[in-house]
Amino acid sequence: MSQSARPADSATAWAGINIALGKYWGKRDTTRNLPAVSSLSLTLAEMGTRTTVIFDPELTHDVFELDGVEGEDPRVVAMLDGIRGLRRVERHARVISRNHVPTASGLASSASGAAALAAAAWAATGGDLAAARADRAFIELVRRGSGSAPRSLYGGLVELDRDSGGVRPVLSANAWDLRMVVARLAHAPKKISSRQGMARTASTSPFYGAWVDAHPGDMVAARAAIEARDLPALGAVMERSTYRMHAAMLGADPPLRYWNGRTLDALDRVEALRAAGVGAWATMDAGPHVKVLCVAADAEAVAAALAEVAAPGDVTVARAGPGATIEP
Ligand code: PMV
Repeated sequence: MSQSARPADSATAWAGINIALGKYWGKRDTTRNLPAVSSLSLTLAEMGTRTTVIFDPELTHDVFELDGVEGEDPRVVAMLDGIRGLRRVERHARVISRNHVPTASGLASSASGAAALAAAAWAATGGDLAAARADRAFIELVRRGSGSAPRSLYGGLVELDRDSGGVRPVLSANAWDLRMVVARLAHAPKKISSRQGMARTASTSPFYGAWVDAHPGDMVAARAAIEARDLPALGAVMERSTYRMHAAMLGADPPLRYWNGRTLDALDRVEALRAAGVGAWATMDAGPHVKVLCVAADAEAVAAALAEVAAPGDVTVARAGPGATIEP
């Protein structure tokens, strides 16, 4: 940024990652990135992305820095183009982003990344984030960035609707003292992106149709469990939705197996915890990591059990967190 330029318009946003309880896998419209199923997620407090956007009249192209490394990412430029279109801004931007999760490891940093970028860019043009959340074109833009990203705009439990592609808060972060204990079980980036994995599952897995057909029933059960604050019921739906999604993936050709041996070891630990009376339920996404839903009082026991499987420092107890926020 040049010292001589008039102060550039800038903003910094935080967005937490979100973990799906009712899973999303498959698209009904790839151009608009509309999902084939609705989904339900929990936004986390301790893991996410912090992004600063500076619109600078002296820049001749967008500049993007992620975790201290400058690089090119067409998705960042596409998001900025979208915001420029909505906000009638022409300047290029410098984007400085830091992930507080491992990038592209199946820990959903693409969702927090897209949500933080969109929120910061919108605010850097003088826009109000509350207005953005109510703006269909903004939500559409965020969803095009990453199918699950609109869920990170809200805190706590959040639902993304299949039909409208819109998103709504279901229960605020402080309304239920939930924890997600995250065990990071590999350090390498995932082999196949969710976008490619979804396309392959939809076009080759004989179980894909069954997954899509069974999903609405799981969503009904999940909503009822939340309404009743019934964690065993919610945990059971989350596990069911997870295994159904992975079953569809496993049926793809070639098969999509995101798990590794430690994934199964962690699942054994969760089952043992439950047998011992600890309320703990597991979910996995497009990666080998295991995330365990429980109440605050059980989080330590869950973390200790997962620490037997994960490398030191790779277990995080995360609280339910707020939606995307603009930082002062
Ligand atoms: O938003 P995407 O394209 O990274 O897809 C997310 C898919 C899963 O994480 C596997 C499930 C979900 O609902 O978050």
